[in-house]
Amino acid sequence: MARLLITGGAGFIGSHTCVVLLEAGHDLVVLDDFSNSSPVALERVQELAGRSLELVRGDLRDPVLLEQVFASADAAGAPIEAVIHFAGLKAVGESVAQPLRYWDVNVAGSRALLSTMDAHGCRTLVFSSSATLYGYPETVPIPETAPVQPINPYGHTKASVERMLADLAASAPDAWRIACLRYFNPVGAHPSGRIGEDPNGIPNNLFPFVSQVAIGRRQRLSVFGGDWPTPDGSGVRDYIHVMDLAEGHRAALDALLGDRPQLLTLNLGSGVGASVLEVVRAFEAASGRAVPYEVVDRRPGDAAITVADPSLAAERLGWRTQRSLADMCRDGWAWQSANPQGYQGAS
Ligand code: NAD
Ligand code: UFG
Repeated sequence: MARLLITGGAGFIGSHTCVVLLEAGHDLVVLDDFSNSSPVALERVQELAGRSLELVRGDLRDPVLLEQVFASADAAGAPIEAVIHFAGLKAVGESVAQPLRYWDVNVAGSRALLSTMDAHGCRTLVFSSSATLYGYPETVPIPETAPVQPINPYGHTKASVERMLADLAASAPDAWRIACLRYFNPVGAHPSGRIGEDPNGIPNNLFPFVSQVAIGRRQRLSVFGGDWPTPDGSGVRDYIHVMDLAEGHRAALDALLGDRPQLLTLNLGSGVGASVLEVVRAFEAASGRAVPYEVVDRRPGDAAITVADPSLAAERLGWRTQRSLADMCRDGWAWQSANPQGYQGAS
């Protein structure tokens, strides 16, 4: 079992991955500034896993803090063996309005992390990349060989970090073990309903919006476009249960630690598409609540269909998704109904 640094471990995907990694026996140090998460998430992670983790509260971009994290682990005789790097900003619209913030946190933050890792001889990294870097895909399902052509600043920052990692791996191919995981649309929650997605303000993404309509926090869903070239006219995405995604991280880490140094670039998705209207119906069935909606204009920047070709991850990691859209809705509803205001006010 390894000692791991998890940046952004209190966030949506990070918290679920921490549960899986603790359960697998790894020792975790979580670095998070809680700019988009709550310390309550980490308390619940420990409660679910029945094991504790070490928390360092701070900013990824702080080189002094990063040095302290690695140096104190070295001094304790328990060096950090690998890093799973979730910390970052992820809202597409915000990235258009505040590009420098995105370049700073996502790119400069990653560079600071990599420099400190290198200085301490820690050269195993799993990086949170995104299907957003495919832009408007030319072929669906999308293979990893599809062109990287982001269409917004957020996507450019993810593509740039992937570029930086490829350059680094090429500079010392016998040293670095790196996995760039291109997530499709992570949704759902831990089946306990104790941890889940807790967006600030009005959700940008479909799933949290739908679940807030179901719980009565919002009146109705706006379906962005009913005239897409899809079977029912609404947009199609590859939704992946966050627990499947968490298990994908464990599999990627095992593959990196158990094999020769290499750079892996993998889609993490189900390979199955669901339309907005299918999601609405599945969520209504899981929750027993109505989800009123109206079809409005298309959202600028959206693609009609994005679905992963997940076959390379299956081949390289022996991992594939196990959970259905109904499971995503059931577990998402368990979280939403037990925590109508998310982590706010929770203890
Ligand atoms: P999230 O916002 O819930 O989690 C990110 C975490 O990083 C939060 O806990 C936040 O407080 C922390 N953080 C942000 N800036 C930080 C900084 N400067 N220093 C320290 N901590 C900082 O997001 P998530 O959905 O869990 O996403 C995790 C990663 O996966 C991100 O890099 C995101 O870009 C990527 N990703 C997410 C999705 C998605 O749909 N959720 C899709 C593709 C890729
Ligand atoms: N949608 C609606 N109404 C809403 C929100 C979304 O109809 O209120 C539709 C969208 O038009 C799209 C689908 O629901 O057809 C999914 O939209 P999301 O915003 O949930 O997800 P996206 O596929 O647009 O993007 C998400 C993240 C990106 C990430 C991408 C791939 O926001 O950061 O998944 O991982 F890159």
